This record gives sequence, structure tokens and C-alpha cells, in this order.
Amino acid sequence: MSHPIPAPALARTPEELGRLRSRLGRVALVPTMGALHNGHRSLIAAAREHADAVVVSVFVNPLQFGPGEDYERYPRDLDADLAVCAEEGVALVFAPSVEDMYPGEQIVRVDPGPMGAVLEGASRPGFFGGVLTVVNKLFNLVRPDIAVFGQKDAQQLALVRRMVRDLNMPVTVVAAPTMRDPDNLASSSRNAYLSPEERRSALALSRALLAGADASVTGPVGILSAARAVLDEAAQATPPVSVDYLALVDAGTFTEVAADHRGDAVLLVAAWVGRTRLIDNVPLTL
Ligand code: PAJ
Repeated sequence: MSHPIPAPALARTPEELGRLRSRLGRVALVPTMGALHNGHRSLIAAAREHADAVVVSVFVNPLQFGPGEDYERYPRDLDADLAVCAEEGVALVFAPSVEDMYPGEQIVRVDPGPMGAVLEGASRPGFFGGVLTVVNKLFNLVRPDIAVFGQKDAQQLALVRRMVRDLNMPVTVVAAPTMRDPDNLASSSRNAYLSPEERRSALALSRALLAGADASVTGPVGILSAARAVLDEAAQATPPVSVDYLALVDAGTFTEVAADHRGDAVLLVAAWVGRTRLIDNVPLTL
């Protein structure tokens, strides 16, 4: 006979969170925007290994969405998220309202600096300022010992690490590898927007990264041209893949590596398929 899964405690306000948090010991926080999928599950599993109790935050953060982005249509289903958290043994879910997180205008914000202005930051002005500000608020509210972030959002992970270091935040950041669906598309809440045809075209992102990784021995120029060849072909597909950027960067600074670079790097791609913007990356050693 299977055992009933204990439901996680649910805090809807910072006050409820404060009461419930004080009963937990060493806490690992997994910040999310909900619509939980396999990627989030793997973060929760990693969090479980590092602490007595796992706290998951579910909050679609308006501060990190630009005008015309998908804030309104972003998938929201708290009951489904609570069921996932129950299955994964989460102790506490923090799902505040926008009014609770931003009772007035958020005047003071975290400045992500130059690393926040390139790549994702160049395409989405204000994005990383919004991300780091909400992550900082969540750290202050939850007071985690550990916080787990996914390699899927490599630039976000690097910026959170940098914020923690530069602002002396008493949190240990743990990274978890990118989870993929069986067709190799990186798991994402935004995959729900894709039609079957768009999804087929979107597989070019992971194919391009794999082609780049296979060309590692040829160095940066060879890696980028192998990945570019796959994306050029996908630009002719129906529906087409429209590349925003393809870049090979230093994992710590997110600046593009030199043509003679050796050592670690991250190959990143961002592209539009229809109205959906997708990102993916692969860490490489050259
Ligand atoms: P969200 O997109 O919900 O992602 C929450 C966490 O899950 C992030 O750390 C992200 O990198 C990780 N993640 C997403 N897809 C993944 C995958 N396929 N494999 C592994 N990890 C994956 O990222 C955000 O929310 C927000 O910006 C947030 C940090 C919560 C701030 O609002």
C-alpha cells in the first residue's frame, strides 16, 4: 500500500511565511515562477540533499517582465504546483500575491552591472534587475541557508552567484544541471506555448548546441560555425527559427571568449519560434 503524501505547508503572505519558517531548521530554497516541470523537480531533489527542509517559492515576478512580454499569459496553476511539491517532499510553499511582494513602488533595486546588460540583458532590458531584486527579497523573507538555481538559465545563475558574493549574502548557491524532455528540448514552462510544429522546429536549439559541443576540439571559431550551420538551416524550416543570439562565453563573466581560448566556456543560444522565445546552453571544456 502506498503511503499518503503529506501536503506541504502553504504560506500566502510574508507573515504566514515568517511563522512557518521559524519551525524549520536548515532550509534550501528553490525560487520558481510556478508551472513546475521536470527541471524544477530536479532542483527540488538537489535541494533535499543539502538541507533539512525544502522551501519552494512560486511567484510570477512582474518586475522581470518587459512591456509586451508574456507576463499576462505566463502559465499559472498553483494546485498543480502544490501537487508536484507534495510528490517531491517539499516542506513549505511560499506563494505570495503581487500586492504582498510589491505593496508600493519598488524604488530600490539591485543593479546587475555589466554582466546583466549583455545577451539576455541586451534583449530584455531591466530583466536581470527584476530577477536579482526579487531573489534578494526572497532571500530576506525565507532566510535560506542554501538556494538552488538551474544551469538552464546560465546567465541568471552567474548573476545570482555574483550578487551573493558582491553583497555578502549569507546564502550558499547550488547549481543543478539542465533537464531535458525526451526529444531533447530543454524543459521550460514556456514550452507549453509551442504548437507541435513549432516544437519540431525548436529542437534545432539543442541540435545546434550538440553540434557545437561535438566541435569542441576545433576551438571557438569551429564551435560557433558548427552551431551556426544548424541554426541557419532551421531559419529555413516551417515554422522558422529566428535566432536572437548565439555566443560562446566565459562562465564567470559572460563576456565572449577569444578565438584562442582554452578551458571552460558556455555555448548559449536564444531564439524565437513563432511568438515564443526559447533559451538553451551547454557548458564546454575547450
Ligand atoms: P523559473 O523559470 O520558474 O525557473 C526556476 C528555476 O528553475 C531556475 O533556477 C531555472 O534555472 C530552473 N530551471 C528551469 N528550467 C530548467 C531545466 N530545464 N533544468 C534545470 N533547471 C531549470 O528562473 C526563474 O523562474 C525566475 O527568474 C526566478 C529565479 C524564480 C526569479 O523570479
